[in-house]
Amino acid sequence: MYVPKNVVSNNDLTRVMDTSDEWIQERTGIKERHYATQFEDTTSTMGVEAAKIAMQRARVAASDIDFIIFATISPDYYFPGCGVLAQRALGITEIGALDIRNQCSGFIYALSVADQFIKTGMYKNILLMAAETHSYGLDFSTRGRNVSVIFGDGAGAVVLQPTDASASSADRGILSTHLHSDGSEAEMLSMINPGFHAGKFAAEKKPAKPNQSYGGLFITKELVEKDDIYPNMDGPAVFKKAIIKFPEVIIEALTANGYQPSDINLLIPHQANLRISQMVQHKLKLKDDQVYNNIQKYGNTTAASIPIALCEAWENGKIKDNDLICLAAFGSGFTWGSALLKW
Ligand code: ACO
Repeated sequence: MYVPKNVVSNNDLTRVMDTSDEWIQERTGIKERHYATQFEDTTSTMGVEAAKIAMQRARVAASDIDFIIFATISPDYYFPGCGVLAQRALGITEIGALDIRNQCSGFIYALSVADQFIKTGMYKNILLMAAETHSYGLDFSTRGRNVSVIFGDGAGAVVLQPTDASASSADRGILSTHLHSDGSEAEMLSMINPGFHAGKFAAEKKPAKPNQSYGGLFITKELVEKDDIYPNMDGPAVFKKAIIKFPEVIIEALTANGYQPSDINLLIPHQANLRISQMVQHKLKLKDDQVYNNIQKYGNTTAASIPIALCEAWENGKIKDNDLICLAAFGSGFTWGSALLKW
């Protein structure tokens, strides 16, 4: 994992918007988050820093990597994606690089894609990075406070390889992954501008007819003037859906492999909001030491939150060989998913 050095407390945010440490902690559990150092860190550079550590720990060189996957919703460029930027920075040439934009579920989706490539034998060393630089694009005025206090910056990375076929390791690794989405409420947690939609799905966001025959609809002066270029979230609606879909997809993974919640050694939920994790824990009747949370220190780092938590839990000795680890995410789209691992 890699998080930028700049720590921003809830009290720091009270200097730029009308909020309070009490409100943020009570609603989300967040105490502080890390923000990228401006003009220094980017989503791809943070992903690369995490990748270097993952590759060193997996004892693989850049030349061993045969596929790259990069999950983010805050890419350096609109295109090309961060996958090729990370590839260039790591000195890796001409292998495939895939970008995944599945918001808070990005890491689970990426893991599932990597798992299929490994299991079919197509690739042997997949480098998966997940990173976000939210702080460059949030609304830090009071108007955007319901969203901006929640999110933080950071990155996580993993290297995936096939296990050998020996009996002792045959049941280890990724047991299964489970992916879902439902686009019927796509705008409920979204950042639709700038975009190529011209107001098609959200009538109130229809831009004025441009004074030209072609173009002029992606980003307009009007959008910038109206400050209509920020993420939007119906917090209570997201909360209600998340506390249904998280337990559902965790049970799905457990059932598929003949386990029950009490068998989980560690659940690492996407760090959306501490209150969501606590509700999920309560619904599944899990003990405190069965669930790992670190949103208090990092905020919600979207695609990066699971690999950051996974790394921290492993470094703190909370993950041991043969442990049953469940990863689960829910987020914008809506998209959600889970992965069950035997470590
Ligand atoms: N500081 C102070 N007051 C605030 C802030 C803030 N940062 N943000 C909103 N408020 C105010 C609102 O303006 C509102 O004031 P009003 O009653 O005078 O109109 C009041 O607090 C309540 O607003 P709600 O949006 O109803 O607040 P709620 O209690 O639902 O909490 C929250 C908001 C924390 C976003 C909550 O809805 C939530 O946790 N939702 C889940 C969404 C989530 O976790 N998203 C994470 C990203 S998505 C994902 O990862 C799954």
